[in-house]
Amino acid sequence: MTAANTRILELRAELDQHNYRYHVLDEPSIPDAEYDRLFRELKALEAEHPELVTADSPTQRVGSTALSAFTQVRHEVPMLSLGNAFDDTDMREFDRRVSEGLDLPAGDLFGGGAEVEYSCEPKLDGLAVSLLYQDGYLVRGATRGDGTTGEDISVNVRTVRNIPLKLHGSGWPAVLEVRGEVFMSKAGFDRLNEAQLAAGGKTFANPRNAAAGSLRQLDSKITASRPLEFCCYGLGQVSEEFSDTHIGNLKQLQQWGMPISHELKLARGIADCLDYYRDIGERRASLPYEIDGVVFKVNSLASQRELGFRAREPRWAIAHKFPAMEELTELLDVEFQVGRTGAVTPVARLKPVKVAGVTVSNATLHNMDEVARLGLMIGDTVIIRRAGDVIPQVVQVVLERRPGDARPVHIPERCPVCGSHVERTQLVKRSKGRETISEGAVYRCVGRLACGAQLKQAIIHFVSRRAMDIEGLGEKSVEQLVDEGLVSSPADLYTLTFEQIVDLEGFAELSSKNLLQAIADSKRPALARFIYALGIPDVGEETAKVLARSLASLERVQRALPQVLTYLPDIGLEVAYEIHSFFSDAHNQQVIGQLLERGLELQDQGELGAEFAASTTLGGLIDKLHIPSVGPGGAQKLAEKFGSLQGVIEADWLDMRQALPEKQAKSVREFFDSPDNARAALAIEAQLRDFGMHWQSEKKTVEGLPLAGQTWVLTGSLELMSRDVAKARLESLGAKVSGSVSGKTHCVVAGPGAGSKLVKANELGLKVLDEEAFVAFLSQPGI
Ligand code: IVH
Repeated sequence: MTAANTRILELRAELDQHNYRYHVLDEPSIPDAEYDRLFRELKALEAEHPELVTADSPTQRVGSTALSAFTQVRHEVPMLSLGNAFDDTDMREFDRRVSEGLDLPAGDLFGGGAEVEYSCEPKLDGLAVSLLYQDGYLVRGATRGDGTTGEDISVNVRTVRNIPLKLHGSGWPAVLEVRGEVFMSKAGFDRLNEAQLAAGGKTFANPRNAAAGSLRQLDSKITASRPLEFCCYGLGQVSEEFSDTHIGNLKQLQQWGMPISHELKLARGIADCLDYYRDIGERRASLPYEIDGVVFKVNSLASQRELGFRAREPRWAIAHKFPAMEELTELLDVEFQVGRTGAVTPVARLKPVKVAGVTVSNATLHNMDEVARLGLMIGDTVIIRRAGDVIPQVVQVVLERRPGDARPVHIPERCPVCGSHVERTQLVKRSKGRETISEGAVYRCVGRLACGAQLKQAIIHFVSRRAMDIEGLGEKSVEQLVDEGLVSSPADLYTLTFEQIVDLEGFAELSSKNLLQAIADSKRPALARFIYALGIPDVGEETAKVLARSLASLERVQRALPQVLTYLPDIGLEVAYEIHSFFSDAHNQQVIGQLLERGLELQDQGELGAEFAASTTLGGLIDKLHIPSVGPGGAQKLAEKFGSLQGVIEADWLDMRQALPEKQAKSVREFFDSPDNARAALAIEAQLRDFGMHWQSEKKTVEGLPLAGQTWVLTGSLELMSRDVAKARLESLGAKVSGSVSGKTHCVVAGPGAGSKLVKANELGLKVLDEEAFVAFLSQPGI
């Protein structure tokens, strides 16, 4: 056998295998670009050796056999494929063939030829579908399959929300077969993968695979839950023609309710086509869906008929492809980078490869869970994907190409920068009264500011515009200050002298003076800015603002117990633990101490935020202890019955049974029988009181309470506290909370959006408080 023949057989076997994986399993193992290369190699070899072409060669077929699980459907009009153009020359060649085929006068170097009208459309990256309408009703949906026989996916296409089940208007042919692409938007794809990850399911490498995998589901409920969309680009069989151009057809179909591309345009001549290609190419990253090229079709249907078909492709249409977004390369190594919060992140070092015009030699691997999910080994051949402007990603391992000496990826035991231990982070979850700690996906270097990488990043963050806003300290300067040993914590910035910095690279007399002035000017930050600048893991600007507004002093923020922090809006237990552990760290305490010694004066400190003080009740506290089988109702009953936490802890069994049913009472008993639980609960209560929370006894001795005998009404939306909390607070003060306004109402609390109740209150001349006034009222001493 000749070398050519051997290679041809090899290529056919390989292409057959990839065809099967792509069309039948929806699980391609190589990127399209690689498939195209193999395909072109085979085509070229067959062109050189026409005697070796056989009918079963992949070059002679379209797509692949239908998956037997679905009923088979015969396409009356075959569903064909498109020829590809990869550059302007291919496109001009196509245009020349069209003109020739239509007997139009050819142009010369200076143009002058007849201009053919082309329709221009994006080439959506999804899967081709045929929709058959009879008398306006959708009666069948089918995949392309091998072009002649597809699969009946009628049930599934009906779940795609923008496919009309009945055509709009009137005048449609009795038999109308619409063809187009089912695809998934980029946003839909991201949402689906996030949901799959959260549910422990498999994720999809790209939107095309996700769309194909979703549409060809035997369980149509799964299809229905997936964000699929349809875009129509042509016709199959029709009982009656209704336009004489392709664009005319699409516009008419749109009138009948069919979604068509927003980017559909008419081009006059090849120059217009090339402009369209460039325009869409520039906007490719910002389009909401993925495209792998644009499609040009001769607009006149008469001309299309004249040109006809050649093997698997129409002569009147072509796909002008964009550079592929996925490519194959080799994983040379995995290195570990250390970020500001100490997260040790695996980064793929790749054999450089051009992906969509950019050379890629690194890709993020996110975390070790991702490495495990991909099943990645060093030496593997991997698929790299560059979607839009995002950082390149490794989406898949090509297992067939794993070398014998591939090595597993291990997280280092010690930080590659400072040599400190690397520990796995823990996730704290609470359910049924127990905190369970599980392993997180992130590993962290425990070196904190003693780790050069973290120190540099921490200082870059500390000085940044939204943090301490120290101008004149770029990344390079920070690196120098750290490398020269001039700065080993953010506090050291405040001891820098002119002599120390003036000789550094990039500094001169003026810039040194300016920097020292900027540092001096940063000494009176708002508390929120300062908390944000500290760079506590998971504490962004919003959380920093909440902490500052609610606790109103650095000292309280530093001391706050994790459970107390969870009283603040939007702070969950995990973030609470991060905050607590940050301030418990001796080194961090030292740095904060130094910052204050060196003249930092925090602004906006003072009394505890009124909303926080007003948002706590004893019932709420007991509820937050998460005693098994005791919900908010049970917690409230305990508060009313015993009036203090100590009272609940010391309650005798009979009293307890009066407050709660047996099962709950037992559970409360068991909970407080553990001295740790009792101690922790009392510590939380003590801190809340210490911070200025002042709930009165919640025992139902209504007389003598400040609001005894009053009826209050809450209306509109409350933003500073929940309605339940407001109600509980009023009730604990002895008030009754009613749903309707009458002459007997003492006061109405009206939040934004208050309607008829507020009107009535005003008519009756009742006292009305807005939410701020209400919160201020609740935080008065004695209330
Ligand atoms: S026309 C006979 N138009 O690309 C012409 N195809 O390789 C048939 N595609 O299977 C196709 N967008 O799945 C056409 N605007 C568009 C398209 C489009 C995406 C897909 C389609 C087809 C493949 C051709």
